[in-house]
Amino acid sequence: MDFSEKQEALVKESWEVMKKDIPTLSLYLYTMILEIAPEVKGLFSFLKDTNEIPKNNAKLRAHAVIVFKMVCEAAIQLRGKGEVVISGSTLKLLGSVHLKKGITDPQFEVVKEALIRTVEKGMGERCNEEMKDAWSEAYNHLAAAIKTEMKKEE
Ligand code: HEM
Repeated sequence: MDFSEKQEALVKESWEVMKKDIPTLSLYLYTMILEIAPEVKGLFSFLKDTNEIPKNNAKLRAHAVIVFKMVCEAAIQLRGKGEVVISGSTLKLLGSVHLKKGITDPQFEVVKEALIRTVEKGMGERCNEEMKDAWSEAYNHLAAAIKTEMKKEE
């Protein structure tokens, strides 16, 4: 099914709301990631040596925001072009960083689930299945582009 104008709008509008509170959003995303898969803790430089998720860590915040922003951009592209196109140098960086860290397909699913739970939390009563599906679909396309690049660099 093609990505609809409505789906693009759902993702864009919810991101506009959620980005007003980045500290809460990023902390929640990581809380969910570790709740679903505690074993990924060691992968992140800013988590591996602590027992608590740091509340004010620039790298943690950057990864959370980049994931959200890029999924949002993916939604816009899916609607406009029908596919996700990441610029060459960004795609290379994304491919090589995640390849080096050995990120697996199940771990991409973990981050998706955590992202959806964060949308639920951030949007509260305004969240519905359609909104979650739109985020989920856009994420799938973005993750697929990163995974393809990881395979190329192997
Ligand atoms: C690092 C984006 C998914 C784990 C990064 C970086 C970016 C990024 C831009 C930083 C590169 C740099 O400047 O050094 C994304 C996007 C994702 C995604 C857009 C969307 C699908 C994931 C997933 C995992 C993951 C599913 C698995 C748990 C990591 C780790 C690092 C990283 C461990 C290194 C962080 C550190 O220790 O500083 N990612 N990522 N990412 N990513 Fe992702």
